[in-house]
Amino acid sequence: MTTWQSSAPAGIAARFRQVRQCTLALCASLSAEDLQLQSMPDASPGKWHLAHTSWFFEQFVLGRDPAYRPRDPAWHYLFNSYYQSVGPMHARPQRGLLSRPSLDEVLDYRRHVDDAVGELLERSDDAELPGLVELGLQHEQQHQELLLTDIKHAFWCNPLQPAYRAPIAASADAKVVPLRFVDGREGIVEIGHRGEGFAFDHETPRHRALLQPHALANRLVTNAEYLAFVREGGYREPGLWLSDGWATLQREGWQHPLYWQDDLASEFTLAGARALDPHEPVCHLSYFEADAFARWAGARLPTEAEWESVAQGVAIDGNLQDAQRFQPRAASGDAGLLQLYGDVWEWTASPYVSYPGFRPLPGSLGEYNGKFMCGQWVLRGGSCATPRDHVRATYRNFFPPQARWQFAGLRLGQDR
Ligand code: AVJ
Ligand code: FE
Repeated sequence: MTTWQSSAPAGIAARFRQVRQCTLALCASLSAEDLQLQSMPDASPGKWHLAHTSWFFEQFVLGRDPAYRPRDPAWHYLFNSYYQSVGPMHARPQRGLLSRPSLDEVLDYRRHVDDAVGELLERSDDAELPGLVELGLQHEQQHQELLLTDIKHAFWCNPLQPAYRAPIAASADAKVVPLRFVDGREGIVEIGHRGEGFAFDHETPRHRALLQPHALANRLVTNAEYLAFVREGGYREPGLWLSDGWATLQREGWQHPLYWQDDLASEFTLAGARALDPHEPVCHLSYFEADAFARWAGARLPTEAEWESVAQGVAIDGNLQDAQRFQPRAASGDAGLLQLYGDVWEWTASPYVSYPGFRPLPGSLGEYNGKFMCGQWVLRGGSCATPRDHVRATYRNFFPPQARWQFAGLRLGQDR
C-alpha cells in the first residue's frame, strides 16, 4: 500500500462521512423501484451500487479487524464485483434480479458499515487503514458517477422519459467560443503520479513520454459541430470508421449519439427530453464515434500524454458533479484551454495499457485496475458526473471502444 500518502485519521473520518452521505444524496429523488432497475448488462441497479460500495469497505477495510462480523456473510457473493481472489460472485447481467435484500436492508447495511468503519478509524493503530479508507472512498466516487450514468440509461428506456432532476438551465452564454488549436509541448515530458495525495496504481509510476509536435483544441467538440458530421452522412460513410466501429454501427443501427432523438433536435438528459443545445459539448459517444468524427474533421484524438502534459498546470475546476448540473455546459471565456476538467470525459487515442514499471497493488486489490488492460481506451478529465475531489491531471478512466452510456465526448488534436 505504497502509492499514496494517507490523510490524518481525523480528516479521513470526516471525509468518509461526507462521501458516503453524498452517495445517498444522489439517490434522494429515486424510489425503491428506480433503484432496482438494470437496463442492460453493462449497467447496475442503484441498489447494487449502494451495496457493492459498502461491501468494498467490508472486504478491504473491516476485514482487517479480526473482531468484525459481516452484516450478512451470504451477501459477499452478491456484492463482490470482480475480485476472483476473494471468491466467486453473482453474474453482472443478473444484478437486476436481486429483489432481496430489499432497499431498506441495503440502507441498513450501509449504516452498519458506516458505524463499523467510523469506530475502527477511532480505535485502530493500523497504519494502512487511512489509505485503504481513502481507496474505498475513491471507489465509492467512481460508483457515484456510474449510478448517475446507469439511472440515465434506465430512465431513457422508459417511454415516459422520466426526469431524475429539475429542468436544467440553458448554458449561460450563447456566444460560440471559436475553435482554436493551441500548440502543446514537444519532446520529453513526464507524466504519471508521484508523491503526495491519492492516485490509483495504474497512474504510476511517473515516467518519461515523448511528444511529437502537436496541438490541442481550445475546447470540446460541440453538438452543432457533431450535428454537421451527422447531417453530412458521417454515419453512412465507412471510410471514416475503424473496421470494428463500422461493424458495431451496422449491428446496432447507430445513426447519431446515444440519447439524441431521430429528429436530431432534442436529446434525453437527466432532466428528461430537452432541445439539443448547439453549443454544449457533444456527449454519449463511443470511442468509435469520437475517432470517426475526428477523422472527418481532418484531425485526430489527443494522446493521454498530450492531454496530461497540459493539464498538469491547470487548476481542477469546471462543470463537475459538484455543480449538480449533470449535463455538459457550453464553453465560455477565453483562457488557453477550456473545459479540460468536467463536462465530458475526453476519449484519447491511447490504449489502456500499463505505464513502464507498473506494479499492481499487492494482494486482491491488484485486481482493481491492472487486469483490465486489454481492449479498452483511456479517457481523461472527468465529466459533469465526476466529483471535483476525485479527478486529477494523472487520472486515467477507461472503457471499451463501443461504450456510449458514460458522459464521454472529445477534444480534437492534430499533428503539427
Ligand atoms: C474505471 C469506470 C471502468 O466501471 O468498473 C468501479 C471503475 N472500478 N469499481 C468500472 C470501478 C471498480 C471502473 N471504470
Ligand atoms: Fe466497484
